[in-house]
Amino acid sequence: MPASSAYGDNRFAVAPMIDWTDRHCRTLHRQFTRHALLYTEMVVADAAIYGDRERILGFADAEQPVALQLGGSDAAKLAEAARIGEAMGYVEINLNVGCPSDRVQSGTFGACLMKTPDIVTEAVAAMKRSVSIPVTVKCRIGVDDQDTETALDDIAKGVFGAGADALWVHARKAWLKGLSPKENRDIPPLDYDRVYRLKRHYMNQFIGINGGIQTVSEGLEHLNHVDGVMLGRAVYHNPMMLSEVDQALYRSETTPASIDAIIDYMCDYADAHIASGGRLSHVARHMVGLFHGAAGARRWRQILSTEANQIGANSDVIRRAYEAVQSAAAEKAA
Ligand SMILES: Cc1cc2nc3c(=O)[nH]c(=O)nc-3n(C[C@H](O)[C@H](O)[C@H](O)COP(=O)(O)O)c2cc1C
Repeated sequence: MPASSAYGDNRFAVAPMIDWTDRHCRTLHRQFTRHALLYTEMVVADAAIYGDRERILGFADAEQPVALQLGGSDAAKLAEAARIGEAMGYVEINLNVGCPSDRVQSGTFGACLMKTPDIVTEAVAAMKRSVSIPVTVKCRIGVDDQDTETALDDIAKGVFGAGADALWVHARKAWLKGLSPKENRDIPPLDYDRVYRLKRHYMNQFIGINGGIQTVSEGLEHLNHVDGVMLGRAVYHNPMMLSEVDQALYRSETTPASIDAIIDYMCDYADAHIASGGRLSHVARHMVGLFHGAAGARRWRQILSTEANQIGANSDVIRRAYEAVQSAAAEKAA
């Protein structure tokens, strides 16, 4: 396994995903793993500074360790947003240099920053000066017609020179014109070797890999070449895979919580959220993938996606859906 840096033992992370990795999603994911690093959705620096702080940045201790991902390009604003994030209790601040959406491009941040490594370097340096927690960057291997050898080297040189504690690389280019953000997560080909090469060049820095990794065991393979693996969609659509992480990657001897206990926890959590003015669907929508591939999965999805949206819905919906899964499993076993 490659040498790790002072960044610590963040060998497994759940990727930042807008609209998906909110606090409810992270609460669910945390039930399956004590160790994985969980990322927030990207929060634009202005929103962190001027927005409703509790709504945008609030989270519970039980979700920790949680890293805050920021979007922006103005070094002073990013430094201020990072300071706010540190004060709110996040364990790391990450800068988004990989998101290709139009909205993001017009604000000159996200993936288009791959073209301006100096701006990224300046931003990282400013954030490092303003906080004492790790500052990291998540980038692509390049954009558009960039040469991925020089584009990624330039970013890495700049951010490590500015003191970044880790670089997470989504191992494909983003094509800023002509592809939707969704297509940009699938169509540009993956190039894991490019990230492995970067790691060989930076033996003493933490380099993590992201993109297209489907299982925890695939993740383990990557750890022969890099320091960390970050999974996004595969985990979101099948959160139960996280129950393998602590034992497989962190050599934990603690037995993962049972699914019964996790359902109970999430029911209590959902009812507390409803009691404070929220809706069941805010929590239940992240649970739809829970029984991925198991008997009763379809019924589970159906009940959650139709009934959780109804006015007055509470955790009874989750319990009813879980009973359907249990009876499907019993029928299959009989
Ligand atoms: C719904 C969705 C939202 C995303 N939002 C972000 C984001 O806020 N910041 C970011 O850096 N990447 C974002 N991404 C990209 C993921 O972090 C990740 O790089 C990408 O999905 C590739 O990893 P995967 O193949 O494991 O999903 C998003 C991806 C999805 C599917």
